[in-house]
Amino acid sequence: MQILPDLMTLENGRPVTDAGAWKERRAELLGLFSEKMFGFMPKAPEKVIGETVEKSKTAAGHALTELINIRFDTPKGEFAFPLKFTYPAGAESVPTFVFINFRPELYDSYCPLEEIIDSGFAVASVFYKDITSDDGNFDSKLASHFPRESGTDTGKIGLWAYACSRVADYLQTRNEADSSNLAVIGHSRLGKTALWCSANDSRFRFAISNCSGCCGAAYEREKHGNAETYKKIQEVFPYWFCKNFENIARGNEEAPFDQHMLLALTAPRYLLVGSASLDEWADPYSEQMACMGASPAWKVFGLNGFIGKETPAAVGEDFSKGEIHYHNRDGEHFLSRNNWNQYMKFIKSKTDSRV
Ligand code: GCU
Repeated sequence: MQILPDLMTLENGRPVTDAGAWKERRAELLGLFSEKMFGFMPKAPEKVIGETVEKSKTAAGHALTELINIRFDTPKGEFAFPLKFTYPAGAESVPTFVFINFRPELYDSYCPLEEIIDSGFAVASVFYKDITSDDGNFDSKLASHFPRESGTDTGKIGLWAYACSRVADYLQTRNEADSSNLAVIGHSRLGKTALWCSANDSRFRFAISNCSGCCGAAYEREKHGNAETYKKIQEVFPYWFCKNFENIARGNEEAPFDQHMLLALTAPRYLLVGSASLDEWADPYSEQMACMGASPAWKVFGLNGFIGKETPAAVGEDFSKGEIHYHNRDGEHFLSRNNWNQYMKFIKSKTDSRV
């Protein structure tokens, strides 16, 4: 392992030993990831409006799905996107997933809707390309409202994350959703998005990164096998990031952070990291180690962070005792039923015990 930048030392050299100092360190780190990786998150709008366009029964009639037009103002005028909000029929204040999805369909290979509903959760799902296209085009949809011009303007990951926060704004107005138990969840590039969203928006009590890998939950300075690196990701997907990231990715500037610091931005809330045993590109063991590396941020709150072993998790093994849940699912890069079940079990263990 290469030497990592120190999570628990402020830029002025002072060690972070309590929650107050962590607040300062957190602000520094959020600033660094904004300036040099994802770009600064645009300011939240004053008001978010949701208009129900359609309402229908789903999930074997156990649920209602509303198609909602979410609207808000930006400095360049109004932007609107569709949200599909599905909740158990008669739900009152249930834990809710804000799911940033690869596809618009509700019944999706990455979203076992019936199981989720029957487990007592609601899902507010957003199709990521309704926010902005997954390419270098900044001339349409939300990207045209926040174009990527300066070195620190947000890339696409930041725009998808911004939309998840607008869903959280809207959900505060819905009795069906328990706004104190919101979880933001995404897979792969959208797992990176979920982490960045949670880093910026502490209203999410749970942040779920599924196979997020490079620039997500996996360390940059600790890679195994054919894992993706900053260099490789920036060459192919420069538009996910701010322009400044190029300096780091090309080795012209040393990164002042590593990915355990991104994970730590969710402390002291709950962080759920799922890997897949055959997902060499995302690097499961590196994700596990970054969970461990992030844990000191929880410890200053008297919590634990990750409780687990230092050697690689066995296939199928999970660690759920701390505030950081980690599991190494059997199989390939995918957001599977098994992953959802792990996440739901962990969240239930936190929500059911609440007084
Ligand atoms: C590519 C990319 C990864 C990303 C993945 C995905 O493989 O290199 O960083 O996580 O796409 O989003 O599916």
